[in-house]
Amino acid sequence: MAINWTDAQIEEIVASVMKGLTGEAPKAKPQYCGAGYNGKKYIGVYEDMNDAIDAAEAGYRAIRAMSLEEREKVINIIRDLCRKEAPTMASLGVDETKMGRVDHKTAKHILVADKTPGTSDIVADVKTGDYGLTLTEMAPFGVVGSITPSTNPSETVICNSIGMIAAGNGVVFNPHPNAIATSNYAVDLINRASAMAGGPSVLVSSVVKPTLDTASIMYKDPRIRLLVCTGGPGVVKSVLSSGKKAIGAGAGNPPVIVDDTADIKKAGKDIIDGCTFDNNLPCIAEKEVFAFANIADELIDAMKANGAYLISSQDADKLAKIVLVEKTNPKTGIKSKIVNRDCVGRDAKVLLEKIGIYVGNDIRCIICETSFEHEFVQEELMMPILPIVRVKNIDEAISLAVKAEHGNRHTAHMHSKNIDNLTRFARAVETTIFVKNAPSYAGIGFGGEGHTTFTIAGPTGEGITSARSFTRKRRCVLSESFRII
Ligand code: COA
Repeated sequence: MAINWTDAQIEEIVASVMKGLTGEAPKAKPQYCGAGYNGKKYIGVYEDMNDAIDAAEAGYRAIRAMSLEEREKVINIIRDLCRKEAPTMASLGVDETKMGRVDHKTAKHILVADKTPGTSDIVADVKTGDYGLTLTEMAPFGVVGSITPSTNPSETVICNSIGMIAAGNGVVFNPHPNAIATSNYAVDLINRASAMAGGPSVLVSSVVKPTLDTASIMYKDPRIRLLVCTGGPGVVKSVLSSGKKAIGAGAGNPPVIVDDTADIKKAGKDIIDGCTFDNNLPCIAEKEVFAFANIADELIDAMKANGAYLISSQDADKLAKIVLVEKTNPKTGIKSKIVNRDCVGRDAKVLLEKIGIYVGNDIRCIICETSFEHEFVQEELMMPILPIVRVKNIDEAISLAVKAEHGNRHTAHMHSKNIDNLTRFARAVETTIFVKNAPSYAGIGFGGEGHTTFTIAGPTGEGITSARSFTRKRRCVLSESFRII
C-alpha cells in the first residue's frame, strides 16, 4: 500500500534520522509563503483583495494626516531597513523565483534605499502676473493599485512605496504570482518602518495569493484612482485597457551600437558588466550588439577577457531551441515564440550546460555572432546571452538597432567618441533611456547620475518614475494679490 506522506511529515522523519546519525537536527530551510516568512506573519497582507483595499485606504487617510516631516521619517526608516535586510530579500528573491544573482540583487536594494527620491521630489509651481498669483501643487491621487514583476520584485515594491508615500498616496500591491513571498516581505518591511516611525501599523497592503482575478478587483474598485503596472507585455496591456488612469512600464529590447571611435576595451567590459547585472533581468540591460566590422574582433576579445564565452553559430541555434519555446494562443490558435521561463535570469554556466558545454564560475555571459534576423536579436531574452551583429557603417548600425528595439522606445546604448554618431542614434531610436559609454545600469543611477527606479514608464510617458509621477496637479488662484513686485 502506498503512503502519501506530507512534506511536513517527510521533514520530521529526515530530522529524526539525522539527529540519530549525527546527534544534531539538520539546519532548517527558510520557510516562506505569501502570508509570512520563517513562522512570522507578514503585516498588511490579506486573504481578500477587498480587505487589502480597505487597509490601503486607511493607510491613505493616515498619510494625509502626516506632515511632510513625518512622511520623511517613515521613508528614512524604510531606507535603513532596506539596506539592512537587502541580503535577506536578495536570497529570498533568488530562492523563490529561481532568477538572478544574490550579490547583484543585494546591490539593487541598496541602490533603491540610496537613490529613490522622497518628498523633495514634490515641488510646487508658481506663476505671478498682472492678475495676481496662481499656485500649482502636486497632490496625491488617493489609493494607488500597483502591479509588480517577478524580475525585480521587492526592489519594485520598496521603490514604488517610497515614491507613492512621498507623494501622499496609499498603496495596495498585486505582486507577480511567482514572487509573492519576496514582494510581500517588502510590504511587511514598509509597514514595520511605519510603526517604528510612529505611523499606522498598516500603511501599505497586499494579498496572500495575487492573481489576475485579484488584479481585476483592484481595477474595478472605485477607490483605486491610479494603476501603476511594472511587468510583462500581457499584464501591462490589461492595466492600460482598464479604463482607469494608468502608468505602464513594460518590455524593451535594448540595442547597443559600438563604432570604431569607441574605447573598445572599455566598451567590451562595460557591455558585459551591464548585460550580466542580475543575469540580465533589469529591462534596461544590453540585449544585442551592433558592432562596426573593423572593430568587432577586438570587441569580442575584450568581452572574452571579461567573462564572456563565445559559442559557434551551430551552438547558438541549439541554445535558441532551448531558451525559446513555441506557444499557441488559446483564443486565436496563432503560434509564437516566447522565452522559456525556466531559462530567464539563469547563470550563463547553467545555460551552457543545457547544450553540453561545461565552464568555470568565471564565465558570466554567452556571446555569439549572428545575423540580424536571429531570434537572439529579435526576442527579449532576459538571460546573459548576447548576440553580436557586424555592421558596415553608422547608417546600417542605426537602421538595424532601431528595428531591433521594435518601437518600445525603452532603452538604448552606444559606445563612441563621435558626437555626431551618438546624436544621430539617440534621435533615431527615441528611447526613454539612452546611455553613452557606460554599462546599462548607469541609466538607473548605478554608477551614473540621477535617481533610480525599476518602473520605467515608456508607453505612458512618465519615464524614470519618481514621487512626482504619482501625483495629480491642482491649481489654486489668488486674484489681484500676493505679487510683491
Ligand atoms: N499580478 C497578477 N498576475 C500577473 C502579474 C501580477 N503582478 N504579473 C504577471 N501576471 C500574470 C500575467 O498576466 C500572465 O497571465 P496569463 O498567463 O493569463 O497571460 C501570468 O501572470 C504570467 O505572466 P508573465 O510574467 O508574463 O509570464 P512568466 O512568469 O512566464 O514570464 C517574465 C516571466 C520574466 C518573462 C515576464 O514576467 C517579463 O517579461 N517580465 C518583465 C518584467 C519587467 O521588469 N518589466 C518592466 C520593466 S520597466
